[in-house]
Amino acid sequence: MDFTHVGNLNDLQSHSRYTITLRSKADASAYKSLILFRLAAAEDGHEQLYAMESACPHLGADMSHADIEDFGDDEHGSLVAVCPWHRYDFDLTTGHSETGLRACVFAVELRPSATEDPTSRSVWIESPEPAAGGWELVERRPVSEEFAVTNGQNGQSAADLPQCPPSTTTMDLEPVVPEADAPKTLVEWAVLILNTSNPVLKVARTRHAVHLYRTGKIKSVGQNSKNAPKPPDTPPRDGTAQSVDPGKTGRRGKGGSVKSRISMLHALANIEQWAWDIIARHGQAYPYMPTAFFSDFARVALDESKHFSLLSARLEQMGSHYGALSVHAGLWDSAWETRDSLLARLAIIHLVHEARGLDVNPVTIAKFKNAGDDESARVLNIIHSDEITHVTAGHRWFTWLCARGGEHPAPNAQPLDPVATFRSNVQRHFAGALKGPFNVTDRAQAGLSTEFYENLTGHWGEKDFAEPADSSQPKAVLVPLAFAGEKEKALELIEEAGEAKAIVSYEA
Ligand code: FES
Repeated sequence: MDFTHVGNLNDLQSHSRYTITLRSKADASAYKSLILFRLAAAEDGHEQLYAMESACPHLGADMSHADIEDFGDDEHGSLVAVCPWHRYDFDLTTGHSETGLRACVFAVELRPSATEDPTSRSVWIESPEPAAGGWELVERRPVSEEFAVTNGQNGQSAADLPQCPPSTTTMDLEPVVPEADAPKTLVEWAVLILNTSNPVLKVARTRHAVHLYRTGKIKSVGQNSKNAPKPPDTPPRDGTAQSVDPGKTGRRGKGGSVKSRISMLHALANIEQWAWDIIARHGQAYPYMPTAFFSDFARVALDESKHFSLLSARLEQMGSHYGALSVHAGLWDSAWETRDSLLARLAIIHLVHEARGLDVNPVTIAKFKNAGDDESARVLNIIHSDEITHVTAGHRWFTWLCARGGEHPAPNAQPLDPVATFRSNVQRHFAGALKGPFNVTDRAQAGLSTEFYENLTGHWGEKDFAEPADSSQPKAVLVPLAFAGEKEKALELIEEAGEAKAIVSYEA
């Protein structure tokens, strides 16, 4: 049996659950998300570690918030994870469920660590199939603060709702859950949050919606609903911040002065809710996307709200507040430009803009540290490590779409080359060169090898730019249909067109 190293036991003490993301070394488009449950040590002191695939085998619910129950009637017990959506239970050791379904579970081993500390142990998880080539650890992340270990115990805190932003009251705002027409699905929440103009209420609603989704209080993504609301063309912003054109926000300085650092943090707090837009807009346009896709972007949305809370709290500690300076809505331009293509959205927002953050963040953090502002540097470090996971999510689903032949694949479509598809999307939907220096290490951790992004220039908006052929879309050919009775002839012609998209014309 092949195993993958996921860290040292000492690194797994702060929480009782971790999300483990693995990527195949043989196929960079193959990802596995697991949940590592660390339960209270047994009476004999043995660690109790269990690993299970994060998507429920029933309808794909995220198992990170599964209840753990002991169904055993002897001293060995039988620990099960109970899915939050429909309460099916899965044995943590065998994966079996009384329903007949079976979850993928993975053996966990503790081995001596290759460190000087003889008591240190490393954690290894049975490698998922196919094991050929092996798997690499992309991310090991605590599930959430709800599962933080408190008072040295392995118990779970029972917080129903994560705390609201620390420094701002929501007293004068609309209720978090609207009194009329409260959203019932994730997509409905996504649209409500996009239409929420106040950033504090937006954060509170994000936290509430993700909590409802993860704990099974809403059990549907809702992407197939005919009545699902549409996302706004331009998400409204309230009057707390003056919106100006990109490039007119004033100079931010180099981080040496408090004023300059406030300006930099304010710019970072000027977040866009891209994750909610991808759920609402592309979720409805591509309803075949698996539940794990929506779970990933719900987590990204939660991160975005956490980042805003951290940054706005830090601004207030420094004597300012979010809204004190002008902001621009220029980042929304890229979201709007990529509204009609999920491949383009993932490429431009996650693999260009967010990947650029990976390059810039370490430099910014160093500036804050040099200025003696360790607290801001701590906040920026949290944001940076989260953003690696956002780029990873972009790479995971971009390569997933490529592997199935694109977002509108013809029958029997061949997989698309992810690098060529990414580069052609950047050429069409992004303006200007991708600028270095690149953070090659963190980009590689997120799945981006240098061939994706080196020597690449976008030509969006250039008048005389000849767009490259879009390899992600089937080619269109005209199939003449002389009269309606020739159905078989038409079908033959369509078949001849193969992977091309046949446009059938009828001439009376
Ligand atoms: S029991 Fe898990 S999704 Fe239904």
